[in-house]
Amino acid sequence: MKKQWWKESVVYQIYPRSFMDSNGDGIGDLQGIISRLDYLKELGIDVVWLSPVYKSPNDDNGYDISDYQDIMREFGTMKDWEQLLLELHKRGIKLIMDLVVNHSSDEHIWFSEARKSKDNPYRDYYIWREGKDGKEPNNWGSNFGGSAWELDELTGEYYLHLFSKKQPDLNWENPKLRKEIYDMMTWWLEKGIDGFRMDVVNFISKVEGLPDDEPKPGKKYASGSKYYRNGPKIHAYLQEMNEKAISKYDVMTVGEMPGVNPEWARQYTGESRNELNMVFQFEHVSLDNGPNGKWDLKPLDLFDLKTNLTKWQNELDEVGWNSLYFNNHDQPRSVSRFGNDGEYWDKSAKMLATLLHMMKGTPYIYQGEEIGMTNVRYSSIDEYRDIETLNFYKEALNDGWTEEKALEAIYAKGRDNARTPMQWDSSRHGGFTKGTPWIKVNPNYKDINVEMAMKNPDSVFYYYKKLIELRKKNEIIIYGKYNLILDHHPEVYAYTRTLGNQILLVMCNFYGDNTEAELPADILEKNFEPLIGNYKDIQISRTIKLRPYETQVLLFNS
Ligand code: NOJ
Repeated sequence: MKKQWWKESVVYQIYPRSFMDSNGDGIGDLQGIISRLDYLKELGIDVVWLSPVYKSPNDDNGYDISDYQDIMREFGTMKDWEQLLLELHKRGIKLIMDLVVNHSSDEHIWFSEARKSKDNPYRDYYIWREGKDGKEPNNWGSNFGGSAWELDELTGEYYLHLFSKKQPDLNWENPKLRKEIYDMMTWWLEKGIDGFRMDVVNFISKVEGLPDDEPKPGKKYASGSKYYRNGPKIHAYLQEMNEKAISKYDVMTVGEMPGVNPEWARQYTGESRNELNMVFQFEHVSLDNGPNGKWDLKPLDLFDLKTNLTKWQNELDEVGWNSLYFNNHDQPRSVSRFGNDGEYWDKSAKMLATLLHMMKGTPYIYQGEEIGMTNVRYSSIDEYRDIETLNFYKEALNDGWTEEKALEAIYAKGRDNARTPMQWDSSRHGGFTKGTPWIKVNPNYKDINVEMAMKNPDSVFYYYKKLIELRKKNEIIIYGKYNLILDHHPEVYAYTRTLGNQILLVMCNFYGDNTEAELPADILEKNFEPLIGNYKDIQISRTIKLRPYETQVLLFNS
């Protein structure tokens, strides 16, 4: 396996709107981020992934870009951004930017031109179709609810938008558009950035003819996703992007890919294919979805998680590379979702972190995860800001859900769980802003915040710091081969990593009860050293007792 800096790195995601506000307008900004870089240095991360900071009308908080080469006023200026890059690099931290090129904003100049007339030179930068029998061109639904098509009155044609109607899909069939994108990427690369996280990048190639999908029973719109996920020209586009921009720089790439399976991922990330370094897959964060999708709540089954993560570990072992994540700006907080954010908040946050960071792949930490930030429960829908959540709520009520049931689903799965302001200290609004925050702070900020975490040597924060340090000191954590053990244990997720004559043993009790497990006899004959754990007094024997949410990592040397 080829050694690469991005395999040996830990990435920290910043969602700028919610990270730190420096000017009191209630919205996080670039100067706010700069003021907190020493904190990130202390944590020890290697790379920052910055969610979009480009000019945007914020229909989807910056994932709707109206100028790819300018900065959103609320966040600051290009000078601020340049200062941020410089300050990161000074601290030895790299920067990857979010690349959102499946769609632009409808306020991008390309789209305002395109919609003017059918023969406008920019018309073909987007996907236009005539209606069918007085209806939309096909039956696809948008990922944010409703139809994926919007009628544009002026020319009488519809345009495709897989997300909100203010996010028209770009037409990748058009070589002129592709060139504009590669040039824009090169412009950022020339500024010295260290790579890109690519938003829904496996959606950019659509099946010719945009066929109707199977209708969903009881629903007005079908999915359509099988006609745009991993579409026919996706590899050609990614290879072209690699050739024209990425390959000229020593940078990393990670493609966000809903619906990707390991077989696809091997193609996207296989070294010889020159496409991407790694992908964000969604299977493990969909295991608690019922048959009707994410809002249809279902408890996580530990066997499903073991089976799924093991499949990804094994299938990308020799070919390709995994990204490791439980959290991001679209996912609920993992300690609330897969752990216990009450009695075992501290233990379960540490256990989940261990499970993930000891696997093979590049770990991603989402802001606040490193202090154990939790989900939020606002009492009214009026407190929510996320377009997906608000659209869901309206549709759910139309479909006959009660307000309580819809809110319960939002408490469990809504994206605003991840977007509450970063909790810096116990002052008003958690120290995030001196003004009124654009979204309310989680009321638990007095108990969970950075200031407290940094004063407590036993905090979740210092545990993450130690996990990061261990990766730097032990090659086995990066390159060792993964092997699931105790496959059928109902409460414990355990695995080994092997490199040369070393074996790393990782044990995680996933529940709030004491449990026991039989360790493989051959391992115990070797000398071992405990590397990290969330209880201090560990006792190792053939039959190991694990306390609630206990995790232990042992390194065996023969
Ligand atoms: C995925 C992003 O992570 C999400 O936040 C966004 O809403 C959609 N893509 C559309 O850009």
